[in-house]
Amino acid sequence: MTDPTARRRAEEPARLPESARAALNELRSRYPDDEALLLPALHLAQQHWDGWLPDEAIEAVARELELPPARVYGVVTFYDLFHQRPIGRHRVRICTNLSCTLRGAEEIVESVKQELDVDENQVTPDGRCSFVHFECLGACETAPMMMIDDEYHGHLTPDKARDLVRHLD
Ligand code: FES
Repeated sequence: MTDPTARRRAEEPARLPESARAALNELRSRYPDDEALLLPALHLAQQHWDGWLPDEAIEAVARELELPPARVYGVVTFYDLFHQRPIGRHRVRICTNLSCTLRGAEEIVESVKQELDVDENQVTPDGRCSFVHFECLGACETAPMMMIDDEYHGHLTPDKARDLVRHLD
């Protein structure tokens, strides 16, 4: 038998937490309209949903700002700083664009993958790290390269890349 409270909760539309709604209300006077609040609202939602935006978070933002969900999804998928799946505490982006590929990016990907023992877009069981391929990160002169969080690491070798991810805490 289904618990009626749980069923009611499951049927309730997703909402932003009270703290995020209060923060948005404070911002409202500084923005021309609610659509302009979309980026701050997504940041607040992402903080609340542990660093990523499940569908319910996106729907909650759409409801709060009275925007079509498709508009919110469009922004989420456009910006790299919003995540539609969980990410690790450290985020590794390995450039696999032309210059980096010509200088061995695929070996760097393989080495990071082996060290972390997870596939792309998966989080290590301890929550420490996840990695993705990435388009040009604008540091082609240091190819092959990757970013760990906000830091660039260039002139990589498979061993150097492995060491870098091994020592992330
Ligand atoms: S191709 Fe890798 S940084 Fe530009």
